[in-house]
Parts: sequence; structure tokens; C-alpha cells
Amino acid sequence: MNIVIMGLPGAGKGTQATEIIKKYPIPHISTGDMFRLAIKNETELGKEAQAYMDRGELVPDEVTIGIVKERLAESDAKDGFLLDGFPRTVAQAEALNDIMAELGSQIDSTLYIDVPEEELMNRLTGRRICEVCGTAYHLVFNPPKKDGVCDLDGGKLYQREDDNPETVQNRLDVNIKKTKPLLEFYENQGILSKVDGARDIDEVFADVDKILETL
Ligand code: AP5
Ligand code: MG
Ligand code: ZN
Repeated sequence: MNIVIMGLPGAGKGTQATEIIKKYPIPHISTGDMFRLAIKNETELGKEAQAYMDRGELVPDEVTIGIVKERLAESDAKDGFLLDGFPRTVAQAEALNDIMAELGSQIDSTLYIDVPEEELMNRLTGRRICEVCGTAYHLVFNPPKKDGVCDLDGGKLYQREDDNPETVQNRLDVNIKKTKPLLEFYENQGILSKVDGARDIDEVFADVDKILETL
């Protein structure tokens, strides 16, 4: 099962991915997480990506496509994967089709988590993430049992650098522009499913799972 999860910043891609991989044992491949790890480890890739991420811009396609191509060729992705946050441009979607063709495979389904723009600012500025396991919480919508601490492992919760109001606004503007042509691309390929993401996390997952069960 080769799946793509798409949605504007804060739509709940990572949150739904966490639920999906509990049920379906496939690797969760998030380009945003890969870039953040590279920045933390101070690699060449991290140096290249940082300035774009700090401004809420997209990292250039050549760079992003390159890391996805390498990652999908790894053995754990052979029997399926969940791509989160890639593709975001039609050029990336076309490149992904080429990568899959080279691997003798294809994308089975693309899920778009649809959330009205006006909800996303609140979701992102209130997000807190566990420094140990990466689980996303929300101060209001999905709070941890104990303030500032992960329910699962007691890890400390932190705020992502790009979750400040100015950068969030730019991330939204940049991604909104790219989304319509991307959705049209997958609609034309007949593999796009839209899910109403403006509901409780478990209700959204129930709809996502209905789609995945048919694959
Ligand atoms: P990335 O890390 O992918 O960030 P993003 O797209 O901005 O999306 P987020 O991770 O912020 O949101 P999400 O949809 O995962 O939401 P979450 O589940 O956490 O990318 C970061 C940067 O890397 C980009 O800006 C770009 O620079 C670069 N990059 C990455 N991929 C790239 C690419 N392909 N090309 C070029 N550049 C790329 O949820 C958000 C909050 O809402 C949480 O607090 C959560 O608890 C809460 N929440 C979730 N679901 C619900 C719900 N149903 N109801 C209420 N609250 C909810
Ligand atoms: Mg995410
Ligand atoms: Zn944790």
C-alpha cells in the first residue's frame, strides 16, 4: 500500500499518519521531519533547507525530490509507505510518478485532509510536540494529561520554530497557491480522495481508514 497524505499546514497530516501506522505497519515518511532531523544534525541538507523552512517557503524541488527518491529506494519502503508532506507541487508529483515507475510500482491512493484556512492558524500556534517521540498535542484541541509533558513517555513538549504567527501565515499562503493544481493532477489520475478534516481526530481517522481498507 503506497499512500500519500496531503493537506495544508496544520490540517492534521502528521496526526493522522500516527493513527494510520498504528494499524498499517508501513514507514511514515515525512519530508518536513527529514529536513528537521538534518537541521538538528547540522548536515549539508540541513544547511540547505534551514533558510527556506525558517521563512515558511518550500525547499527547492531538486533537493526535496532527491531525498524522497533515496528514501523510497530503501528496503523498508518496498512493501508500502505513507508519504506525508510530499508532493506539494505538480513537479514533485510528476517526479514521484517517475520514481515509482523506476521502482516498478505506483501510488495507490492520495488522501487530502480538507480543513478551512481560518482554523489552521489556531491549530499551528497551539501545537506542542514531544521531544522524545514526536507526537503532536494541542494546548486546546488535544491537550496532554499533564501540562508540557507527553502522555506516552513523559517527554518534554516543545514548540516548532516555524509555528509562530508570521511564519505560519507565509506557510499557508505558499501552500494554498500550490494546492489546487496538485489536487487537479491527482483527480485526473483517479486516485484522489478528500476527507473532511474539520472534525475530531478519531472521526477523521474513521473516514481515512474506510478508504485505506478498500486498498
Ligand atoms: P511540514 O513539517 O510538512 O509542515 P506543514 O506542511 O506546514 O504541516 P505541519 O506538519 O505543520 O501540519 P500537519 O498537517 O502535519 O498537522 P499536525 O498533525 O501536526 O513541512 C515543514 C517545512 O518543510 C515546509 O514549510 C517546507 O519548508 C519544508 N518542506 C516539507 N516538505 C516539503 C516539500 N514536499 N517541498 C518543499 N518543501 C517542503 O496537526 C497540527 C495541530 O493541530 C496539532 O497541534 C494537532 O494536535 C492539531 N490537530 C490535528 N488534527 C486535529 C483535529 N482533527 N482537530 C483539532 N486539532 C487537530
Ligand atoms: Mg506534520
Ligand atoms: Zn512522547
